[in-house]
Amino acid sequence: MPIQIIHADITRLTVDAIVNAANPGLLGGGGVDGAIHRAAGPALLQACRALPEIAPGVRCPTGEARITPGFALPAPWVIHTVGPVWRGGDDGEAELLARCHRNALRLLRGQQLRTIAFPAISCGVYGYPAAQAAAVAVGALRDAMAAADDDLEVTLCCFSDAMRAVFQRALSA
Ligand code: APR
Repeated sequence: MPIQIIHADITRLTVDAIVNAANPGLLGGGGVDGAIHRAAGPALLQACRALPEIAPGVRCPTGEARITPGFALPAPWVIHTVGPVWRGGDDGEAELLARCHRNALRLLRGQQLRTIAFPAISCGVYGYPAAQAAAVAVGALRDAMAAADDDLEVTLCCFSDAMRAVFQRALSA
């Protein structure tokens, strides 16, 4: 099963890489970002700080991704990506969210890794409607996986049973 949907705390998963739904500064925040930083320990913040700023306060523009070790996490790697803030849907949100998923898989492959877990990027503080985000995430992952003949295992890790059901519907569609 190349894409599976689970209801879990992403910080507990033993996959090669977990994805963080970060902000452009990459210095932590609330939601899944805060949980990942707490579970990884302070070395993660140091590693993020060491990533180059490409503009003042910007280490990762929206839609791009960066990789660091996972430190105290069970997952050895964290792929940080920045989802779009929902502004009604006419501001390129879907393309940016798709790019987050594609760029995370590109980094995974670049490191010769195989298993990855994504949270519901942009579905919390950033306000992306969950059903629409799930359709974009599943579509982007399917396309990116179909385009290569490797054996990636992708988990979509939802933090509630309601969100799991939304993503499950998108996967079954
Ligand atoms: N495991 C899995 N999913 C989680 C966890 C966890 N431990 N904690 C929260 N989530 C879920 C939320 O319930 C939500 O469905 O992750 C999803 C994404 O929500 P946010 O973390 O708010 O991320 P996002 O909407 O992309 O907003 C990013 O939030 O904290 C900040 O620094 C972050 O500014 C950035 C913004």
